[in-house]
Amino acid sequence: MNTPDRITLPRPDDWHLHLRDGTMLAAVAPESARHFGRALVMPNLMPPVVTGAEAASYRDRIRKALPADSRFTPLMTLYLTEDSDPADIRAAHAAGHALAVKLYPAGATTNSASGVRDLDRVTGVLEILAEIGMPLCIHGEVTDPEIDIFDREAVFIDRVLDPLRRRLPELRITLEHVTTAEGVAYVRASEGNLAATLTAHHLVINRNHILAGGIRPHYYCLPVAKRERHRVALLEAALSGDPRFFLGTDSAPHPRAAKESACGCAGIFTAPLAIPLLAQIFDEAGALNRLAGFVSVHGARWYGLPVAEETITLERRDTPLDLPARIAAGKDEVVPFDPGFPIRWHVVTG
Ligand code: DOR
Ligand code: ZN
Repeated sequence: MNTPDRITLPRPDDWHLHLRDGTMLAAVAPESARHFGRALVMPNLMPPVVTGAEAASYRDRIRKALPADSRFTPLMTLYLTEDSDPADIRAAHAAGHALAVKLYPAGATTNSASGVRDLDRVTGVLEILAEIGMPLCIHGEVTDPEIDIFDREAVFIDRVLDPLRRRLPELRITLEHVTTAEGVAYVRASEGNLAATLTAHHLVINRNHILAGGIRPHYYCLPVAKRERHRVALLEAALSGDPRFFLGTDSAPHPRAAKESACGCAGIFTAPLAIPLLAQIFDEAGALNRLAGFVSVHGARWYGLPVAEETITLERRDTPLDLPARIAAGKDEVVPFDPGFPIRWHVVTG
């Protein structure tokens, strides 16, 4: 079968993005704005983005960091703490300052110390979210040190997510960056009010990429990549056309020195290449016809927003994409994800 070597899509959205602040924001925002029309921006700054006013002010800073002619729309999230004010969240949603609330179990990942220790202490907020239809985005990992890091997502589903969904079935939940076959199966078995984001890098790497033949800090993120059978399950979910699965890159820049360190931090920076890489993955699987659903349609529908009218066109070429090995961020630099193979898809318009 001949597969097309050119494809036009509604401009993609990134439903899970870390843009940071200050110099780093200035360096990475244009990288997302080049291909994406909108992004759901994570609130795990230091200090976190908790209130509607903080989200509105962060959104202004993001807009200022974009090229003057950019039409990129940052969509904001509020960081859920045990002191979050339900009235403020309701008002932020009504005013259009925030699209979703983000739940980080305290200690689960980068800048999550102000997250939630005890879900019972945020019941008031969760009930409001269910009432107003505002999605809760969840970093789905338990933080119990007794639980092996490779099991933390599956245990979270059993111990936390499933009981929460039974208690509050009206709550709309986005299970973020699913990394396990168990996560995929759980989302597939759900009967509503549950969707999941998948990153591009978890479709490419398994845990061997991080650890075999030397330790590779630029492949380390949270949730950490799992065994190959999990990667295959994620890939199948992405390629399946199931509207409950869509792209959230979790592109998470860190200064190179903070990654290449005795205690390197979690996060993989994929913004510059996520869309060409996904085109290649879908093409190689013979599923290019499902790429638009995954990157441009399913997420918009889930969040109740129109699919983009603008388009982008990608083309497969003989020459591989020439990505910089490093991107300058003030006196620091950020290392983009290296999938380990040449990417032949190029965004040629848009
Ligand atoms: O790898 C990660 N990096 N996972 C997260 O959940 C947070 C992110 C970050 O902010 O760096
Ligand atoms: Zn993230």
